Amino acid sequence: MPSDFEDLDDNPSNPSVGRRPTIGDVINRRYSRRSAVKGMFGTLAIAGIGPGLAACATVEPGEFREKEFRELDRGVDTTHHVAPGHHAEVLIRWGDPLFDGVGAFDPMRQSAEDQERRFGYNNDYVGFVPLPAEARGEQRGLLCVNHEYSIADLMLPGVAGRETTAAECEIEKAAHGGSIVEVVRRRGTWSYIPGSRYNRRITARTGIALTGPAAGSSRLATSADPTGRTVTGTLNNCAGGITPWGAYLLAEENFNGYFFGTVTGPEAANHKRYGVPGGWYVWGKYDARFDIGREPNEPNRFGWIVEVDPMDPDSPPKKRTALGRFKHEGAESVHNRDGRVVVYSGDDQAFDYVYKFVTAGRFDPRNPDSGRDLLDEGTLYVARFDADGAMEWLPLIHGQGPLTAANGFAGQADVLIETRRAADLLGATPMDRPEDVEPDPNSGRVYVMLTNNIARTAGDLNAANPRANSAFGHIIEIVETDGDFASTRSTWSILVRCGDPAVAEVGALWGPGTSANGWFGSPDTVAIDGEGRLWVATDGSEVLNRCANGIWSVETKGVVRGCSKLFFRNPTGAEVCGPRFTPDGETLFVAVQHPGDDGEGYPPHGRPSTFADPSTRWPDFDPRMPPRPAVLAVTRTGGGRIGD
Ligand code: FEO
Ligand code: CA
Ligand code: CA
Ligand code: CA
Repeated sequence: MPSDFEDLDDNPSNPSVGRRPTIGDVINRRYSRRSAVKGMFGTLAIAGIGPGLAACATVEPGEFREKEFRELDRGVDTTHHVAPGHHAEVLIRWGDPLFDGVGAFDPMRQSAEDQERRFGYNNDYVGFVPLPAEARGEQRGLLCVNHEYSIADLMLPGVAGRETTAAECEIEKAAHGGSIVEVVRRRGTWSYIPGSRYNRRITARTGIALTGPAAGSSRLATSADPTGRTVTGTLNNCAGGITPWGAYLLAEENFNGYFFGTVTGPEAANHKRYGVPGGWYVWGKYDARFDIGREPNEPNRFGWIVEVDPMDPDSPPKKRTALGRFKHEGAESVHNRDGRVVVYSGDDQAFDYVYKFVTAGRFDPRNPDSGRDLLDEGTLYVARFDADGAMEWLPLIHGQGPLTAANGFAGQADVLIETRRAADLLGATPMDRPEDVEPDPNSGRVYVMLTNNIARTAGDLNAANPRANSAFGHIIEIVETDGDFASTRSTWSILVRCGDPAVAEVGALWGPGTSANGWFGSPDTVAIDGEGRLWVATDGSEVLNRCANGIWSVETKGVVRGCSKLFFRNPTGAEVCGPRFTPDGETLFVAVQHPGDDGEGYPPHGRPSTFADPSTRWPDFDPRMPPRPAVLAVTRTGGGRIGD
């Protein structure tokens, strides 16, 4: 989530460390996009690309692998760029028709019913479920793509400067959720298949079952659903995951932003801990369930992990409450060697936590049905990172330690609904906004993207979050003991501290050979290739980073550990999401989210970006089209694995 929403999102809600100190306000003003615009092209203290890092004797800047791709130069403009020797082609865009009988997209004639039959807005997570080829030489699969949120000013004509109407709010709801779409690669080129029997939209209007220990809790009951077992819709689906049995997981992240009103009853403290109500949308004006004064339990029905079977378009999506309720960034999983499945998830808020869920049952790949409902039973753990490099995964189990009736937890349902408060009581380590948490099944290691936390002060530091006013974030590597992802005692270290290494006050730390183009800020999502290299997608400020968001490859092994190179660059205003490799490593799917957002932050535009007057019309560059979030397929010219 970017710009304005992300600034709101930075406000900590963890009461143990969650104040916003004066120094934080000062730094925030200094580092905010808009106040730093002047500095980008002027004389901001941190500006000025340095001469490049001092490379170690054996490693030249940007050239630390023989045969590897040549990196891009940093910069910002209205289109995307990929490293020489690679192609990036648009595969599918917001508004593209998914079903038979749906015509070409006309942005001047939008309706909720029409949007529900098209690819949604603001593509974020990208999953890929392979399908058998139907002809020689082709490659097929299902792309599972999240649509995190809507930006009315950019996607709807005539809205800039006024409130959205009831009908426009319904279009926004229909543009949320996820898309499942069949894709095929023929003669080297990817395309999607309109009308495929697998194509499906899930939106903020789709009926979804609640399952697992919290389902049926009185705290999940509302006037529309007295049983507490059926929710309308999913919200703010940021990243996600594909399970070992091929299910698509959509994480619900900043659900707080959709609610407004005031609540004074028993849920007041719970809602405060989650930042409810955020008041970012006016949906509650027309739809009572988003008004917490009228429906105080409705927010408890969001903040979960949603599971969908992409192979069965009629299967009901399920919110799996056993995985806890927080601002789930994603839900990447791994099949552990003992057969259990481990799902990692970050809670993306300043001073919140890193979690993993270990299933009680085992998955047998010879029997895909053994994955059915596996996510309804298991143990949720939260991470405590110790100063000596050890760490402990602390179980959130009702009746253990402080998680008792005396502390207001009547049962496991309460522990899950109030996951954050349970984790506070267990003494979890408050982190610098955990985004993607990605296990590498080949190495037994897990990588945690910590995007930034400008509210952290010198008094809040801990070994795993060692910088005050961390504007650029860092990446932690966890080594699960003996490669056992279910282990409860592990070790950790910091792989890189992000930011410009040429500016001492930033405190950045990169591997030798990282060039002036190789550093980045605000790591968000990540893919790991077969060699253990990270492909880190960023969601930061173009002004602070003096570069559009992009994808950087980061080495994790040997003398080049921590070396980073710029592979892909976004058009202005966008964050980059996905990224997702095909199993053969020859295609990288890249989601470009909110192109053309934050026009004030892009000096050649220098004013708000709107439907009528956007900072870029990427990717169509058609004067009748606003900018369109889109998924690209990146391949190597002439074939072969990406980045080789
Ligand atoms: Fe939606 Fe945490 O980025
Ligand atoms: Ca983000
Ligand atoms: Ca994200
Ligand atoms: Ca990922």
